[in-house]
Amino acid sequence: MQTIQSNLATNQTLSGDASSNQFLEDVLLGLSKPQKTLPSKYFYDQTGAKLFQQICELSEYYPTRIEFELLQKHSSEIAHSIGTHAAILEPGAGAKTKARLLLDAQHQPKSYIPDELTKETHIRSITRLRSQLPDIQLHSKEQDFLAEFKDSGEFEHICNARRILFFPGSTIGHFDYAGARRFLAGVGQEVGRDGGCLIGVDLVKDRNSLIEAYNDNQGITASFNKNLLNRVNKDLAADFVTDNFFHQAIFNENESRVEMHLVSLKPQQVTIEDRQFSFRRMESIHTENSYKYSIESFTGMARQAGFARKAYWTDAQQWFAIFYLVGI
Ligand code: AVI
Repeated sequence: MQTIQSNLATNQTLSGDASSNQFLEDVLLGLSKPQKTLPSKYFYDQTGAKLFQQICELSEYYPTRIEFELLQKHSSEIAHSIGTHAAILEPGAGAKTKARLLLDAQHQPKSYIPDELTKETHIRSITRLRSQLPDIQLHSKEQDFLAEFKDSGEFEHICNARRILFFPGSTIGHFDYAGARRFLAGVGQEVGRDGGCLIGVDLVKDRNSLIEAYNDNQGITASFNKNLLNRVNKDLAADFVTDNFFHQAIFNENESRVEMHLVSLKPQQVTIEDRQFSFRRMESIHTENSYKYSIESFTGMARQAGFARKAYWTDAQQWFAIFYLVGI
């Protein structure tokens, strides 16, 4: 658990937490590169987490909807593949509605251990889950489950249970191919040879559908992207004029990824601390990558990380897939 959490925390957690020193360092470093970047992990302050929630409800943003439908439709098959008495670990858990589907269908799950997206959503969803599933042991970081359960027989059970990492939402898409392989290899070490990984993966599809999903009509994704500049202004006393940038989503076919950028509408200067950054007209800040796989490319990458594909479930159009991976 520790390895997965720290791996996520340093790389790609969807957490709002950011020590301001680290944030400043990352921002200064990113904006000093020839292709300016800002790390996507900083999207998720309170406003960003709310905007992301709205994105998940957009008709254009198919991943949440399709993944949810797949979990609903195939819940018993998924439960059957996972088997009984497993401890389900969910790092970076958000609203936990997907976990609810999984836990409902699970034959006698041992326990569920989520990590939080933001404190507020976490507390609300944990409270809800607890009342809905009174028979499942729910452990969360807030409770400091290690401390709380260390001395009880319960802790022993959790450590000894078969561990299944539940990683929905196609969050793996934020790693590049090598990073995703390293992440999965880390998961493999954590869950052990008899453990597994149930993971949501977004699939390659036609360019228009991909771009619409990341550039919706209502401009919610644009606000989500631009909120990163608001956060830099707020937390690091920078002076970005957000209206001087526009949101852009492109599909980079060679890399098989959707990229989000913030593009400067005119030549301008931005000050952060005592540093000045110049922008040319149409120069962009690259803010996010979302890698898209085929069934075969994901299976191949997982194999290199030490996992075999035990099963997968996909929709009729093959837009999204849920893989159940087990150690080789
Ligand atoms: C969280 N993550 C999987 C989303 C994605 O699809 O890459 C983040 C997102 N960015 C824009 N829309 C959604």
